[in-house]
Amino acid sequence: MLILGIETSCDETSLAIVGDGKKVYFNELISQISKHAIFGGVVPEIAAREHYKSLFVLLELLEKNSNIKIKDVDAIAVSTEPGLIGSLLLGLTFAKTLCMIYNKPLIAVNHLYAHLAAANIECNLEYPYLGVLVSGGHTVFFEVKDEITYMVLGKTYDDAAGECFDKIAKMLKLGYPGGPLIDRMVKEATSKNKININFNWRNKWGNNVSFSGLKTSILYYINGQNLQKPRELSQSEIIDIAYTSQEIITDIILDKIVNFVKKYDFKNIVVAGGVASNSVLREKVRNLEDGKRKVFLPSPKYCVDNGAMVAILGGFYAKKNIFSPLDSECRSVFC
Ligand code: KG4
Ligand code: ZN
Repeated sequence: MLILGIETSCDETSLAIVGDGKKVYFNELISQISKHAIFGGVVPEIAAREHYKSLFVLLELLEKNSNIKIKDVDAIAVSTEPGLIGSLLLGLTFAKTLCMIYNKPLIAVNHLYAHLAAANIECNLEYPYLGVLVSGGHTVFFEVKDEITYMVLGKTYDDAAGECFDKIAKMLKLGYPGGPLIDRMVKEATSKNKININFNWRNKWGNNVSFSGLKTSILYYINGQNLQKPRELSQSEIIDIAYTSQEIITDIILDKIVNFVKKYDFKNIVVAGGVASNSVLREKVRNLEDGKRKVFLPSPKYCVDNGAMVAILGGFYAKKNIFSPLDSECRSVFC
């Protein structure tokens, strides 16, 4: 069974063809980072216009570079929630148009579930598992009972983990998106020290997490009480702040994982989404693996937004004959 996956929920346009639930025949993306970087974050209007251009470029590339034509696929899957509404609408309209032209069934998928489903590409997932979705817009802990059943166990009260990385990087004037920049800078630093900030996170928030307090503590650490007059930071201070922030963000996530594993006795853990490419988080989570517990981490190219993850999840629905009506709609929020 061949599934076309379409991803346009935020600032990456991607198309993919996945066969038999696993084999990736095509998975290309066009990133919009350079278009948004000058604004320090994603501009929704620009994102939608870029998807409009990139979808057609990718479709041409797909038909040229893979031996597969859209007429040969069995179904067309597309992310329809959550995300930027204009961007989601572009992807859904594109998907519906292809469905009508080629008489294919449509499969509307949840972008967050798709991130977790990406872990199936490189390994054989065992169910149930603790699904940890850490991205730029969301941080959610799921119990994933089977390929299509996702139950929320906890989530962030405010900022997502990736958003916290991005906002702290912005305060440090590192650029956008901040997560990979902080990760690389800290890895390359020969000397790094923990800074003392006023932020307590241990034994808080029950099943949920919160990152906005960390962001505020860093802001006050940099500027003192005088927020009107930002302080110039030395390079070593920038490294120390980035290092400390990365340690705290990854420890908050790790601590929740450990609690969930204890509470529900999960034997399998999947960590996915953009922040799952963070090298420190990957190492900390891998250390949880033992004779009793397995950890599954998609490789970084399947952690960022990509069409393959949408096609994989679409394939799970198609296998069960679950399709979506052609008047399906998009939703910006996850509830
Ligand atoms: O999943 P994703 O590609 O898009 C959303 O669905 O949001 O995640 C993007 C987020 C951004 O906040 C970015 O800074 C973060 O993932 N990210 C990272 C790393 N690579 C991407 N955060 C920390 N370390 C990284 N290496
Ligand atoms: Zn995403």
